[in-house]
Amino acid sequence: MSIGQTPADQAAQFDSYADSYAEAVNQSIGFLGVKVDYFTRVKVDYMIDLLDTHFGGSDRVAMLDVGCGVGQSHPLYAPRLGSLTGTDVSAPCLDRAAARNPGVAYQAYDGTRLPWDDNRFDAVMTTCVMHHVPPAQWPQFAAELARVVRPGGLVTVFEHNPFNPLTRRAVNTCPFDDDAVLLSQRRTRALLRDAGLVNVQSRAILSIPPVGPVSRRVDLALGHLSLGAQYIAHGTVA
Ligand SMILES: C[S@@+](CC[C@H](N)C(=O)[O-])C[C@H]1O[C@@H](n2cnc3c(N)ncnc32)[C@H](O)[C@@H]1O
Repeated sequence: MSIGQTPADQAAQFDSYADSYAEAVNQSIGFLGVKVDYFTRVKVDYMIDLLDTHFGGSDRVAMLDVGCGVGQSHPLYAPRLGSLTGTDVSAPCLDRAAARNPGVAYQAYDGTRLPWDDNRFDAVMTTCVMHHVPPAQWPQFAAELARVVRPGGLVTVFEHNPFNPLTRRAVNTCPFDDDAVLLSQRRTRALLRDAGLVNVQSRAILSIPPVGPVSRRVDLALGHLSLGAQYIAHGTVA
């Protein structure tokens, strides 16, 4: 982690993976015997369940995905949401995302202030992004997520679990995770609360290997333990 890293530095790091993001992740998690698509699908299912519970359905929800990268998850999200907008500090990643997801709106931002007015979206999510944001910028990053969501809306963070040894191994071998500073669930919850969110909660996910409805029920049941490879944290805008 370089002190004084700028959003431009963060962007440059991912620019060169615009055409090879999935392959790079697959290489670093190869020892698990699963591919990035599996992790993506599990998180999408958790997110859609959360939207269903919170809004009584996902199909009218206007969602912003901050740090969307190459839009890896967007083919799964777009048909299930009212609208989907993606933003990132890496323009080449956004170009790639736009080419593969014609129904999604993409807009670049400078890593400091999201280019939308207050209360613009029903929900915002950010997936495996905060560990690339320099820790000194975490409070501002969380505040920006909260700012663009309307009262009653939802802010959701997916992150790596720093206490899972397999996650640490994957992060240590992933070429674009050189700068990664992993956040605990507790830290992320505190950041969301400090951003003014209420009803802040988190749970571990991906506590067991793939897949199917039975293993998903087991994964849900294990969520209160901190075993999972990743976690979901969320809060409501007051
Ligand atoms: C590991 S990738 C995750 C991409 C996507 N969210 C996914 O789950 O497939 C991290 C992304 O965060 C972006 N990023 C890094 N710093 C950022 C910042 N301050 N604001 C928004 N995005 C950022 C990178 O450009 C990269 O696309």
